[in-house]
Amino acid sequence: MSLARFGVSLDEDILKALDGFVVENSMPNRSQAIRHLIEKSIVEEKWQCNQVVAGAVIMLYNHHKRGVSTKLEKIQHDYYDVILSTQHFHLSHDNCLEIVAVKGTANRLTELSDKLIGLKGIIHGKLVMSRAE
Ligand code: NI
Repeated sequence: MSLARFGVSLDEDILKALDGFVVENSMPNRSQAIRHLIEKSIVEEKWQCNQVVAGAVIMLYNHHKRGVSTKLEKIQHDYYDVILSTQHFHLSHDNCLEIVAVKGTANRLTELSDKLIGLKGIIHGKLVMSRAE
């Protein structure tokens, strides 16, 4: 995946808020935070409720990125109660596709997905949710 760069002008207050977001979410840099926020706002409709839903977190990542595999595993152990299964595909020498099937409250699944997709090294990630019954 190729990266495009662009300049962004922000008020200092917004920049401060962005830097706070980076620290709060243990993100490596502003770019990762902006990417994550754009994805949440535009690509994914955020569900904010306690309704039980089923779905999947789909991630494409480069397993050579330091620590990403270990962190993915640790987060999944923290959320074992909502994870039904995890499928891992070695797509190429560098890239992996991981599909985590989930069932639980939309809030908790969104929390899990945000943690997974926010990791450095994740090239693309998406949470798909649907009514469970
Ligand atoms: Ni792999």
